[in-house]
Amino acid sequence: MVKASFDQIKGFVFDLDGVITDTSLYHTKAWHQLADKLDVAWSKTLEDGLKGISRMDSLEMILKTGNKENDYSQDEKVALATEKNTNYVNEISKMTPENILPGIKDFLDDLRANGYQIALASASKNGPTVLKNLELTDYFPKIVDPATLSKGKPDPEIYTKGAELLGLAPETCIGVEDAAAGVQAINAANEVSVGIGDATLLKEADVRFDNTAEMTLANIKKALG
Ligand code: BG6
Ligand code: MG
Repeated sequence: MVKASFDQIKGFVFDLDGVITDTSLYHTKAWHQLADKLDVAWSKTLEDGLKGISRMDSLEMILKTGNKENDYSQDEKVALATEKNTNYVNEISKMTPENILPGIKDFLDDLRANGYQIALASASKNGPTVLKNLELTDYFPKIVDPATLSKGKPDPEIYTKGAELLGLAPETCIGVEDAAAGVQAINAANEVSVGIGDATLLKEADVRFDNTAEMTLANIKKALG
């Protein structure tokens, strides 16, 4: 499918964890801790697979990996997910603007200065707290509420809603992601996908950068033409 050229782009829809800030490390740490407790073997494949996935879907993925998906009642599963979240919330309570990933603040300023609209499309129910601790709330007047979604990433719903909140056609939006499931969601929503990170993992991204410092309007323009 032919995607937009740079001049057609009007808005940016951002993932949060692993794009704006390195909270993916805290999610990983908290899930790894729970997996150890449940006696489920941890691996890089499991770690990568969890990125972008909602809290309960993440727990299910971990239990499935250990063939334990039928070992817990729904109430017990909720308690396990809550335990992970308590550990995660403790980590993010210590965050400050110093935890913003390199280049992101400048990029957001540049987007604002050039009249692009900005929305957040994070699966995390802790997104608004993280933005507040990073002092970035003002940059994101539009936030998709993950509690309103019927399906998580890789389903396009969250990115479709992000464009809707901006009042823009999906084709005129760029989605930014660090997770394979997220890139799939952006592509399925018909937005232009920018992937940040590993080339193999993010092979489906329309544009990819090794890290956030490389994500500039000039570099995106160069890549899209
Ligand atoms: C995503 C993260 O952004 O949010 C996942 O990549 C996380 O790792 C998901 O599980 C849900 O986050 P939360 O804070 O609602 O548990
Ligand atoms: Mg992410």
